[in-house]
Amino acid sequence: MGTLDWKNLPFGYIKTDFNIRCHYKDGKWGKPEVSQSEYIDIHIAATGLHYGQEAFEGLKAYMGKDGKIRVFRWDENASRLISSANGIKMAPVPAELFREAIFQAINLNKKFVPPFGSGASLYVRPLLYGSGAEVGVKPASEYTFIVFVTPVGPYFKGGVKPVNMMICRDVDRAAPLGTGIYKVGGNYAASLRALVAAKESGYGSALFLDAREKKYIDECGPANFYGIKNNTYITPKSESILGSITNKSLIQLAGSLGIKTERRQVPVEELAEFSETGACGTAAVITPIGKIVDPEKNKIYEYCKDGKPGELTMKLYNKLVGIQIGDMPDEFGWMTVVE
Ligand code: PLP
Ligand code: COI
Repeated sequence: MGTLDWKNLPFGYIKTDFNIRCHYKDGKWGKPEVSQSEYIDIHIAATGLHYGQEAFEGLKAYMGKDGKIRVFRWDENASRLISSANGIKMAPVPAELFREAIFQAINLNKKFVPPFGSGASLYVRPLLYGSGAEVGVKPASEYTFIVFVTPVGPYFKGGVKPVNMMICRDVDRAAPLGTGIYKVGGNYAASLRALVAAKESGYGSALFLDAREKKYIDECGPANFYGIKNNTYITPKSESILGSITNKSLIQLAGSLGIKTERRQVPVEELAEFSETGACGTAAVITPIGKIVDPEKNKIYEYCKDGKPGELTMKLYNKLVGIQIGDMPDEFGWMTVVE
């Protein structure tokens, strides 16, 4: 793997050696199998292709200074995949099977775990879809669970460099009683018009508002949103956003750093009151926001005017990443060493 430029890896797909696959049939899960192929054979009438019966996860494995590989909060991803499966009527993947598959996938592809200090990590992508054939709209009776891994750099270019976001008022990513709380592919399809429009206008991502009233902040493309004011970390409460494991962890870290926390509705106008804002998620880690533009209301909210991330953002970032790479004590018991 001498050819990979670890320090400049994009957030993209790089082929690794092995992936894990497992099939659900006749009401039960089979044994995980190792594959060297990047392709799947899929029934032309699979519900995953036609009716969006598909959910995925994203988590990371990190190389520590001590040469140990650690995975961040895999049990939370396992629970969320169960919730997503139930949300769109798929067979849930038991947490134990999830654990076995992700650790095997990481172990078999150890040489792709980016070195300590590179800023990159091994992204683990579990995927579950309806593989049974149906033509009527109903849940499949067969499912496939796959785990592949790929080494990645930061999702937003430049790592902790501030990015700009565009508020998008003419696209809803998810509805309050819809599937926004699940990590299902359809939500990402629904977000693409806004993401492409934001990128074409030169922004890092789109910022979605609540679909019902267009009054409150929902989330930033594939990451949760937070704002900071008066030593308080504030993050949206909404019925249509994904429960981010990173965000949940930051709330705990903030508490341990003496920063107050609030999870509540965040009105768009409050953007003018924050001293710092950011996006957080597995891929985004913590990405500070430099500017939020609301083109339809002719408004611009600016942060990081000196081009640097804010103080509390950096405190949270350093502690989160310090724990993940095994450089700081794992005081919350979040990390699992890959044996
Ligand atoms: N929101 C959306 C829509 C996402 O796709 C993600 C990524 O997983 C997140 C938020 C962040 O969640 P997490 O911190 O669990 O990765
Ligand atoms: C993640 O943060 O893991 C994500 O899923 C983001 C994304 C690339 C969809």
